[in-house]
Amino acid sequence: MKSDFIPYVNLFSQWKLERKTLLKIIDQVISKQDWVGGKEIEKFEKKIINHTKTKYAVALNSGTDALTIGLYLIGVRRGDEVITTPNSFIASVASIVHIGAKPVFVDVKADQNIDTKLIENKISNKTKAIMPVHLTGRISDMDKIISLSKKYSIPIIEDAAQSINAKFNNMPAGSFGKVGCFSAHPLKNLNAIGDSGYLVTNDKRIFDQAKQLRSHGLKNRNFVDRFGYVSRMDTIQAAILNYRIKNLNKVIKKRRENFNTYSKHLNTKYIFFPNEENYQFNTYHTFVIQVDKRDKLREYLNKNGVGTAIHYPIPIHLQKAAKHLNYKKGDFVNTETQAKRILTLPINESLNGKQIIKISNLVNNFYK
Ligand SMILES: Cc1ncc(COP(=O)(O)O)c(C=O)c1O
Repeated sequence: MKSDFIPYVNLFSQWKLERKTLLKIIDQVISKQDWVGGKEIEKFEKKIINHTKTKYAVALNSGTDALTIGLYLIGVRRGDEVITTPNSFIASVASIVHIGAKPVFVDVKADQNIDTKLIENKISNKTKAIMPVHLTGRISDMDKIISLSKKYSIPIIEDAAQSINAKFNNMPAGSFGKVGCFSAHPLKNLNAIGDSGYLVTNDKRIFDQAKQLRSHGLKNRNFVDRFGYVSRMDTIQAAILNYRIKNLNKVIKKRRENFNTYSKHLNTKYIFFPNEENYQFNTYHTFVIQVDKRDKLREYLNKNGVGTAIHYPIPIHLQKAAKHLNYKKGDFVNTETQAKRILTLPINESLNGKQIIKISNLVNNFYK
């Protein structure tokens, strides 16, 4: 890779900056022999409660397990239906399928989040949860979803995997649903150096049972009421997250600055991206534009030293794994159109304004 190449993500630059500190943290965890569980986990859960304005947090091994355990604990069982969108990372839907429930898809709006106007039509007497996905670090329209949840007594489980610290009407991701589920995968804004995730809730029963389920279902050393999983957050990951969470606001501030620079420089005659409304505080886990000739633009950017990604090229209802759900091409027009038009530009905190302007100019030039 040429030295001035701007990669889509640059995790190695983060590692280089933090190398000494992280090695010290890892050494401390190993030396204390806090190899499974321990103080770092509790410390992390306390911090997450503050960030999400919730009462309880449970540190887990992934965002996917947070969703699966969350769905189970809000009462979703085999044969039930869960409303969500086909425009997400496959894990949102995998968690529903693994419970034995059926994902019922609702198309998205221009901002790639669930179109709340279409939800009510999909509610049936089998609907046991609504799972909005707060894609890209932007919270779905929660006021409408909350009113439907109240009207039909259907709990909300937030897929907030990409959205730690994002806000809607000043309230943080994870604070709206019965359960909020987060990922701390290395690509997330608050990232571990391996798989990690967590859930939050205000419900003491869900909290107690999630803690049991993550650890074989054990109530204490010898008793289990129901069989559980091995889904604990690794202590080394928790210790690293406790260090990195101190920087989270800075990381988000930089990503927001990068978004503002893009907003000023990208030519919106050719390039669409959703604005940030005054009731939103978006965290730009990703910055996704929608354009014609997406693949050609991607090639052009790559040739000119800019890495990009596509989140996500295949809508979930068109994946082979979703065949049994009997959806077909054309069922979700916005999702399918976006899948052909979306391109994720680099926005991570290691990038400076000059680089963002360079990328913007390249994109503008391509459409000239
Ligand atoms: C929207 C969404 N949901 C769920 C997940 C699953 O999280 P994890 O990879 O930590 O299992 C991710 C992240 O990968 C995600 O982006």
